[in-house]
Amino acid sequence: MSSPIVSIKGLRAGFGPTTVLHGVDLAVGPAEVAVLLGLNGAGKSVTLRVAAGLIPAWAGTVRLGGEDVTTLPAEARVGRGMAHVTQGRHVFPGLTVEENLRLGAYTLRRRDRSRYAAVLDSVLDRFPRLADRRRQLAGTMSGGEQAMLAVGRALMANPRVILVDEPSAGLAPAAADALVETLRGVHRSGVAMLLVEQNVTFALDLADTVHVMRQGTVVHSAPRQRVDQDRLTAELGIGRLLKGGTR
Ligand SMILES: Nc1ncnc2c1ncn2[C@@H]1O[C@H](COP(=O)(O)OP(=O)(O)OP(=O)(O)O)[C@@H](O)[C@H]1O
Ligand SMILES: [Mg+2]
Repeated sequence: MSSPIVSIKGLRAGFGPTTVLHGVDLAVGPAEVAVLLGLNGAGKSVTLRVAAGLIPAWAGTVRLGGEDVTTLPAEARVGRGMAHVTQGRHVFPGLTVEENLRLGAYTLRRRDRSRYAAVLDSVLDRFPRLADRRRQLAGTMSGGEQAMLAVGRALMANPRVILVDEPSAGLAPAAADALVETLRGVHRSGVAMLLVEQNVTFALDLADTVHVMRQGTVVHSAPRQRVDQDRLTAELGIGRLLKGGTR
């Protein structure tokens, strides 16, 4: 891989006396979609939250575009090009779509007010459904629309990489398919992605690289076409999912 946009090495973190991450290693290449899979409680969300600066690392490093950001506050990481769509999406229900998007741009707005309007236009272009509803309260939108809003809000910071935690959770298949297309478009525009998903079919559809986590460590990493299917089946307790694999 050419030098990664995000590189996580030996990451340890936890809560009080409990260690949750026992030395996580993974990297996301520029313009790559890396998918992080694992059972409930494996530490996927905690990995994203430590990478984003919402939970402190106890040991190890997080690099963004080669820069060590391990001890930088979350806002500084956003300003350097890392955005995070948290699990549960968390749009502000009492604010309109446009107000939600504005909140995603606060680091940008302070640096460059003129770019802000251009970024808002580009996000609304990308999400026609949000453009149609820009004055609607976010809390009254469907789950799929809220998922798009959460992704759109992350894009308002003009990121180089987005960390996306279970965007398809709770969505009907048609809404999940629409979201896959949205994320594919985001990726095609040159934004790298670290994607956590329970929906393995959804995830593998987008993945360039697959990482599997168990009990706070990454136990298998491979390009999508060379994922060890038996390993995936065993780790996730699922049947064969990869189409046109190598075996
Ligand atoms: N704020 C917290 N305080 C204490 N323990 C926590 C906290 N957040 C997460 N944990 C614990 O860390 C472990 C990993 O949680 P995490 O949310 O990363 O799992 P996950 O892999 O994202 O699972 P899921 O697929 O269910 O979202 C779990 O045992 C969880 O209970
Ligand atoms: Mg999680």
